[in-house]
Amino acid sequence: MGNINKVTYRNNAYQLAKNIADNYNLELLEDSLANNNILIVSEDKISLKVDDYSKEFFIDFLNDSLLFRTSNISQEAILKACGVRQDNKPSILDLTGGWGIDGYILARAGCEVLLLERDPIVHLLLEDGIRRLREKIDCKISAKNINAIQYLAENDINHEVIYLDPIRPQDNKRVKNKKEIEILRKIIQEDQTYDDLLSTALHKIRERLVIKSGRYDSLNIVGNSPNFTIFGRNTKFDIFK
Ligand SMILES: C[S@@+](CC[C@H](N)C(=O)[O-])C[C@H]1O[C@@H](n2cnc3c(N)ncnc32)[C@H](O)[C@@H]1O
Repeated sequence: MGNINKVTYRNNAYQLAKNIADNYNLELLEDSLANNNILIVSEDKISLKVDDYSKEFFIDFLNDSLLFRTSNISQEAILKACGVRQDNKPSILDLTGGWGIDGYILARAGCEVLLLERDPIVHLLLEDGIRRLREKIDCKISAKNINAIQYLAENDINHEVIYLDPIRPQDNKRVKNKKEIEILRKIIQEDQTYDDLLSTALHKIRERLVIKSGRYDSLNIVGNSPNFTIFGRNTKFDIFK
């Protein structure tokens, strides 16, 4: 379980907040919008307030930055990494859903995407973002709250591409992470199972496994090197077939 254990609400969202408090075992607080490390439930969305960030954070797939990226979608290195082309829209299993940004780019390029996310609060925000997205546009993206290691063990994997973008202990500290990643780091537990997830995923490849990391990070899979690597501006994608 992560570091968020309180929830508060605005205006008429009491019942919604109460349901979330009950389902996620959170303490329900009144008049606590100024608190930090708290979930805030409004009638139209669920957001998060964490230390060091004065603005509430919520998933908005239609924000300006993502609108810009999707209007130039062919430039996205992730599409090349996943083998997405005009005539090839592979189905994607994203083992590390997070805020769903990578998955969203792939879905907007026409792929069907399933995001797995083990942290219940991250998953709650993700589902909320997907719900609001679906009110505006038709997009084949969905999310499940499950540990990907368990999902891989219990299911036949038919997705053509398995995608992995873990927060790793050895993340390059010289490269400044984006605000979204810093917020994730604050609310989830340190990932101790990265190697297990990687080696389980390697055994489940149907067409390709794509692993995202920082451009200057070294990959750490004993005995395995990627078939090839695609570089983005600050990221790299190692592809295993
Ligand atoms: C770097 S973030 C992913 C960011 C995502 N690619 C995006 O574009 O927003 C990594 C996420 O993977 C989740 N995660 C780590 N290990 C996992 C596992 N074994 N199963 C499911 N989710 C996992 C973490 O909780 C975190 O939210």
